[in-house]
Amino acid sequence: MTPSPSHPPKTRIRRAFERAAPTYDAAAAMQREICQALLATLDVIAPPATLLDAGAGTGYALPLLAERLPAAERLAVDLSPAMLARIAAPCQRLAGDLEHLPLAAGCCDLYWSNLALQWCDLPRALAEAWRVLRPGGRLAATTLGPATFAELRQAFALVDDYPHTLTFQTPEAIARNARAAGFIDVSIRRQRHVAHYPDLRRLLSAIKAIGANQLGSGRRPHPMGRAAFAALQAAAERQRQAAGLPLTYDVLIVNARK
Ligand SMILES: C[S@@+](CC[C@H](N)C(=O)[O-])C[C@H]1O[C@@H](n2cnc3c(N)ncnc32)[C@H](O)[C@@H]1O
Repeated sequence: MTPSPSHPPKTRIRRAFERAAPTYDAAAAMQREICQALLATLDVIAPPATLLDAGAGTGYALPLLAERLPAAERLAVDLSPAMLARIAAPCQRLAGDLEHLPLAAGCCDLYWSNLALQWCDLPRALAEAWRVLRPGGRLAATTLGPATFAELRQAFALVDDYPHTLTFQTPEAIARNARAAGFIDVSIRRQRHVAHYPDLRRLLSAIKAIGANQLGSGRRPHPMGRAAFAALQAAAERQRQAAGLPLTYDVLIVNARK
């Protein structure tokens, strides 16, 4: 299957996260906040024997999950070996793609994923989540909805016609995809989280530092000139709030059962 037009090729996504691995933890305050929001929705009835952190990154969730579910065996899968290498918590690390998990069918009781599915072909990743879960197993994941980075799209729209963010899925499309993959009891909660930055350069650097600066086809083919960047800055400044320049994360929390 060819990647969706909004998704960069896997090699480029991997390279961005390989580069971002050393800066990720220091820049990931919002990712932490969203991880805690996902944890708050986790209601596992039977303690899982095996849990998978899918797109584990540097493994922030693993000690939190170990605290809640101390007996579970922990697996961490990520596209980026450099991210996996930074995980300090005890777990089995596997470099791999959420669309083709290097795991046997029915081997997990909990599929946990914080902010990785937006990089994936969703029907494929959800079909894989369903495959690796045992019957009755739980899916607990966050991804991003269409209002994510709306401020950037609005500011860039005054400067050029290129896409500057990924295309994010609606809650309805995610629920439809989860049911099509075979999941039941699908629930989607939507939360708006807003980060603030002192200026546009720091906002753009923060996105780069977490590796989220990659785009699919149709992106701007050459860097911006000075005049275009000044116009972008002026557009961003018009959005300034008391706390700084806002950047919205339209967070979708997905819970479901196989
Ligand atoms: C925003 S980070 C989130 C990391 C971690 N879950 C957290 O909460 O800090 C996204 C992670 O997803 C990984 N990723 C992106 N696409 C992936 C794919 N197709 N398969 C596996 N991992 C992927 C990236 O390498 C990166 O580590």
